[in-house]
Amino acid sequence: MNLIISCMIAYILGSIPSGVWVGKYFYKKDIREYGSGNMGTTNTFRVLGKKAGILVLCMDILKGYIPMIVAQHVLHVTPSLVLYTGLFAILGHVYPVFANFRGGKAVATITGVMLAYQPALTLCCMLAFLITLLLSRMVSLSSIISVLVGVAISFTTNDLTLKIVALIAASFIIIRHRTNIKRIMDGTENKVRFSWNKE
Ligand code: G3P
Repeated sequence: MNLIISCMIAYILGSIPSGVWVGKYFYKKDIREYGSGNMGTTNTFRVLGKKAGILVLCMDILKGYIPMIVAQHVLHVTPSLVLYTGLFAILGHVYPVFANFRGGKAVATITGVMLAYQPALTLCCMLAFLITLLLSRMVSLSSIISVLVGVAISFTTNDLTLKIVALIAASFIIIRHRTNIKRIMDGTENKVRFSWNKE
């Protein structure tokens, strides 16, 4: 019963379309009509700037992190099943009830879920993300590589739920990034500019 309650909380929190609400309420802009059209952190940085991007990043991470903490420490969901709560937060982000079921690419929300469940694994994925980002300057490629690193690490453990959820999370990430993958292959994917880049 507690698992069902935590999954419902997770889906509802995950459904909060942070980028859309921050854009609409603070900037009078629907970010889905600009840039890549995605409602996530990267497009928020691109369209609305640093402050909004950081806010949306924190909100999207918390959407995964909070329900996991509630499930673990308030509802005391069985440890071997608690990760299914995170899966519902991810489902909420990808198919949000508050945004006509048209959601984001799930990178930040998966990060929040995994931070609550396996901080060491998450740090390895973040490291893979940062190295790929520094080398390629593509957030999309960095997201894909980091989730694949997460899947690879999960398969070195005996945690069946972790393996299942890692595979599902990776499938979501790859499916949601299919237009990015096409652009990466065409050589036309958006790149971030670091302050030391002159172009
Ligand atoms: O987290 C989403 C990122 O990997 C790509 O975003 O807006 O460039 O499609 P975007």
